[in-house]
Amino acid sequence: MQPLTIAPRERLIVALDLPSVAAAEAMIARLGDSVIFYKIGYQLAYAGGLTLVRQLADAGKKVFVDLKLHDIGNTVARGVESVASLGATFLTVHAYPQTMKAAVEGRAGSGLKILAVTVLTSYDDGDLHAAGYRLGVSDLVEARAQQAQLLGVDGLVCSPEEAASLRKIVGHQMNLVTPGVRPAGTAAGDQKRIMTPARAIAAGADYLVVGRPVLEAADPNAAAEAIIAEIAQAAI
Ligand code: C5P
Repeated sequence: MQPLTIAPRERLIVALDLPSVAAAEAMIARLGDSVIFYKIGYQLAYAGGLTLVRQLADAGKKVFVDLKLHDIGNTVARGVESVASLGATFLTVHAYPQTMKAAVEGRAGSGLKILAVTVLTSYDDGDLHAAGYRLGVSDLVEARAQQAQLLGVDGLVCSPEEAASLRKIVGHQMNLVTPGVRPAGTAAGDQKRIMTPARAIAAGADYLVVGRPVLEAADPNAAAEAIIAEIAQAAI
């Protein structure tokens, strides 16, 4: 299968990691037509931010709901149905077989795509061992990516460093979505394994999730446009 052709502007997902709906609305207004895709995670979702999903979808934007679901199958499937009814485009779940199977069932017939989080990037082999796992990070990421593909999951969240090897495993059938992206010259913050937008695209990422380099820029709109220009250049 051929690589997806996605417009460069749509490949930037701005993480609305902000404390209130008002702060998020102010940032969305500043970013205007420059940004098409937004991510809503724990901080904003639990501060009333899920109301923005429908609002943004109605305004022609796309929304990635990053709630990393994991529960018994019935609860996951019904929760996924509710997120789908809000008009979201992407939703994350943890990459456990039961959870992924239920999520795929819950999104049936909707426009929602399920992204699996294989192993959280804050985990190393020692953390997995302490949590009772037999496999190390790279083996578990690979096993879960294969399971996700078999179960019909639409994409994976991965670090830019994992993108190239996961692309080899899952081909071009799945979307690879990578956080940990930093334009040259911006602060890494707490991200340890970072890549520039151009390198992440070259490594095989379909979508880049970027928070602080846009949110904390003196001119967020200009910061977003610079990332989109870099994506367009790398995708040629
Ligand atoms: O501000 P920054 O660009 O580091 O934000 C990255 C976003 O991607 C945050 O919303 C963070 O929660 C998310 N994320 C991440 N690493 C992962 C999964 C999600 O940084 N492995």
